[in-house]
Amino acid sequence: KVVAVIMVGGPTKGTRFRPLSFNTPKPLIPLAGQPMIHHPISACKKISNLAQIFLIGFYEEREFALYVSSISNELKIPVRYLKEDKPHGSAGALYYFRDRIMEEKPSHVFLLNCDVCCSFPLQGILDAHRRYGGIGTMLVIKVSAEAASQFGELIADPDTKELLHYTEKPETFVSDLINCGVYVFTSDIFNAIEEVYSQIRDTSSNYQSATRSVPADFVRLDQDILSPLAGKKQLYTYENKDFWEQIKTPGKSLKCSALYLSQFRQTSPHILASGDGTNRKPNIIGDVYIHPSVKLHPTAKIGPNVSISANVRVGPGVRLISCIILDDVEIKDNAVVINSIIGWKSSIGRWSRVQASGDYNERLGITILGEAVTVEDEVAVIGSIVLQNKTLNVSVQDDIIL
Ligand code: GDD
Repeated sequence: KVVAVIMVGGPTKGTRFRPLSFNTPKPLIPLAGQPMIHHPISACKKISNLAQIFLIGFYEEREFALYVSSISNELKIPVRYLKEDKPHGSAGALYYFRDRIMEEKPSHVFLLNCDVCCSFPLQGILDAHRRYGGIGTMLVIKVSAEAASQFGELIADPDTKELLHYTEKPETFVSDLINCGVYVFTSDIFNAIEEVYSQIRDTSSNYQSATRSVPADFVRLDQDILSPLAGKKQLYTYENKDFWEQIKTPGKSLKCSALYLSQFRQTSPHILASGDGTNRKPNIIGDVYIHPSVKLHPTAKIGPNVSISANVRVGPGVRLISCIILDDVEIKDNAVVINSIIGWKSSIGRWSRVQASGDYNERLGITILGEAVTVEDEVAVIGSIVLQNKTLNVSVQDDIIL
């Protein structure tokens, strides 16, 4: 038997996702028409002998209650949300719930960050781990040297794949091989975390004051566990050859939505919309997800990289390119939405334009409308972030509307 744990963090962690994360926890914001966390969960479902999936976070229980019960029913696997009273760090949170996680005596525990986008080759990681032995195996990927510093950088033995050296977000370049935030461990991981706690408690060792800038009950998987265990034949690496992205900003979520849509094209093309503008069907270009409840006018032109959630209404002549449209939005006649995320219950007026400014990159420039924003007729919203419940009756550019 194996179990999977997905770290979902909490409200203080999702601040870069504002204004979308004001009313919805970041892990539940849809990418490719499914909550962010749905993608790792459905990857877990494919592991043989998976007994349970735990989500660990410090969001209120009620925020996850509906999702957890519906996904448990859908996948026929128990999915439980476990709430920490406060953040304990990525390893501390795992340790905090060790009794629950080990209840059914699983041989292995998968650990996944909720904010990564990849194909989650979990069975491959587990099979590799069984060959390597040791406490755990982590998914790693090569990125550009410039990008590497935002992640945990590591050195692995090219032959044995052993993790030889690990530094979290180093200031000077170590390696272009980085930590993907996806692991499998044996139950020995709990002993390793316990060890760190006892070093912290042992005041004579000076461990807490000398090496740590975080509270004494806060244990981070990367700095406190991976770094010290590297080079001790305990940890191994499994290289990811498929796509991988981290999802820290809404701009990244547009890119990740595109990646998941193109994965659906390979694995489950029936989920994607089709239509060529004839026979009263809208014109669909590239990978597009449209929830079955959406009312889409046949003269609209949609795609590529568009996902449209439940109960959205799209009027005649509307053009949508590279965007995420959340539930209950109305997009009126001849409006154009490009490189943007439109929050729940918003409304976009006739002949209006909502788009990124200029040549956008994922870091800046995309437009995000919070929940229940109204863009009146013939208004342009360019490269701006609009907080919930605002009404825009004049055009704005490169602005934050509070
Ligand atoms: N439950 C809980 N409690 N979850 C937490 C806590 C906590 O106290 N702290 C962080 N998390 C969750 C976050 O929501 C996220 O899913 C995951 O744990 C890792 O978050 P961080 O510890 O903030 O690290 P990071 O995302 O900046 O970087 C980590 O992931 C990268 C890959 O995405 C590191 O492991 C990097 O080395 C790695 O490259």
